[in-house]
Amino acid sequence: MSSARFDASASLLPPELEPGADQRWSTWPASSPTQRGPLPHPDWLVTSAGAWDTELGVVKTGKEADVHLIERAVPGTAGVLLASKRYRSTHHSDFHRSGSYEEGRTMRNTRDARAVGRKSSYGRSVAAGHWAVSEFDALCRAWRAGVPVPYPVQVSETEVLMEFIGDGRTAAPRLAQSRLHGEDLTDAFIQVVAILEAFARAGFAHGDLSPYNLLDHDGRIVVIDLPQIVDVAANPQGLDFLYRDVMNVSTWFARRGCDNDPEDVFAHLVGVMW
Ligand SMILES: Nc1ncnc2c1ncn2[C@@H]1O[C@H](COP(=O)(O)OP(=O)(O)O)[C@@H](O)[C@H]1O
Ligand SMILES: [Mg+2]
Repeated sequence: MSSARFDASASLLPPELEPGADQRWSTWPASSPTQRGPLPHPDWLVTSAGAWDTELGVVKTGKEADVHLIERAVPGTAGVLLASKRYRSTHHSDFHRSGSYEEGRTMRNTRDARAVGRKSSYGRSVAAGHWAVSEFDALCRAWRAGVPVPYPVQVSETEVLMEFIGDGRTAAPRLAQSRLHGEDLTDAFIQVVAILEAFARAGFAHGDLSPYNLLDHDGRIVVIDLPQIVDVAANPQGLDFLYRDVMNVSTWFARRGCDNDPEDVFAHLVGVMW
């Protein structure tokens, strides 16, 4: 008896209909409901079992993760561009790096927790997966709370797939690189305060908010990079994280010429929370 596993996607297709080297079958059909983004799914989502994911290049490499651009499409039809954030399971991705973020959370599986603590290669891959799940959950929470984040499409192992924020294949610039001034700068500041407020209403602080984690999509500000989202009430340093988030963005806006009082913003957010 053959021990080969049945693979519906294999061998039934002529070779030209197989994904190429920079392609794979869409990971959507095999994902479970908990690995998929909040309902209702946006109508631009491609959910067909016949879709392929095609690598279009690297958007940005980072210390903990790399962001790639992919297109998910049924061959021969228009698809959708997605950002694929892939956490590294090598050196720097130590989930316990940010112990203070993690207060109030525990790793359920003690074998995993020990492996992460030892920094074994298994531990590092557990850590990378843990970061991906953390970021995906945070994106889902933020999305449900009405925070302007990229729609979280899917998480699988160490990869988070989300809406690509950009024009065509060009990613939206980070706020740090944008040339906003005058009224446009003020408008961006108002949007950032609204983002902080929406997080606060849901009980969270971003935890790493800065002009590098805010994208300027033709004047609409979108917040990214949330694996370390902080539950302000449960985390003993929650208010410190919130304060730091406020200071980071307020001082940046002030330096660019948008006068503001960070203490006022902070007080307002604390008021929104309690
Ligand atoms: N959904 C997205 N759409 C467009 N660009 C993105 C998206 N997510 C990330 N990027 C780009 O990739 C960079 C790194 O992503 P980020 O989530 O901030 O990871 P890191 O942990 O490396 O800072 C961002 O500064 C941005 O330029
Ligand atoms: Mg970042």
